[in-house]
Amino acid sequence: MTVSEDITWHTATVSRADREKMNSHKSAVLWFTGLSGAGKSSLAHAVEDRLFKLGCRTYVLDGDNIRHGLCKDLSFSDTDRSENIRRIGEVAKLFTESGVLTLTAFISPFRSDRSTVRELLDEGDFIEIYCKCDLNVCEERDVKGLYKKARAGEIADFTGIHSTYEEPLKPEITVDTAAQSIEESVEQVINALVKRNIISIN
Ligand code: ADX
Repeated sequence: MTVSEDITWHTATVSRADREKMNSHKSAVLWFTGLSGAGKSSLAHAVEDRLFKLGCRTYVLDGDNIRHGLCKDLSFSDTDRSENIRRIGEVAKLFTESGVLTLTAFISPFRSDRSTVRELLDEGDFIEIYCKCDLNVCEERDVKGLYKKARAGEIADFTGIHSTYEEPLKPEITVDTAAQSIEESVEQVINALVKRNIISIN
């Protein structure tokens, strides 16, 4: 849908750069993607905890939580998953303008949807973090008991069982959540943020 001609953009007086200066760090979107049970939420919250302790302004947008409110009208059909990610992309863009380091934890199974979000943001603002974990490991963990339900035919369109997950081709960061400890993964993400001059640790 295109924007109506009767709607005009109002530029804010306080800029993103002003906010970033006040925060002493840059804003960006840390986009965690991977299968259900791959550890996206756990890692996103652990990274947030570390960033918060470093004095950064942060916020986690989490799949299960967002589906309780903003996206509660959406199912797990391909079309609804795309709409879910489109909305999160727009919200993440707003958070980025507000100077916040935004961490998102959504399966976001389709490459095209993740690319749409990447393109929505400025160059360098989208940091794709692939939480790589084999389906059999996720299914063995089955933290929420959903794989069991999906195998029993009690959940439709379950990712990895009846719905595809498209691995990122060139993620900024790949975290091997099956092999690494959460502390090692946090370290890996924090180091990548320092390298990209998004945060600095003195
Ligand atoms: S996404 O595909 O649209 O990005 P999202 O991250 O919002 O998914 O939600 C995934 C979470 O919803 C899973 O972690 C799981 O707890 C729950 N869920 C319920 N039904 C499904 C399903 N059919 N497929 C995947 N996840 C599901």
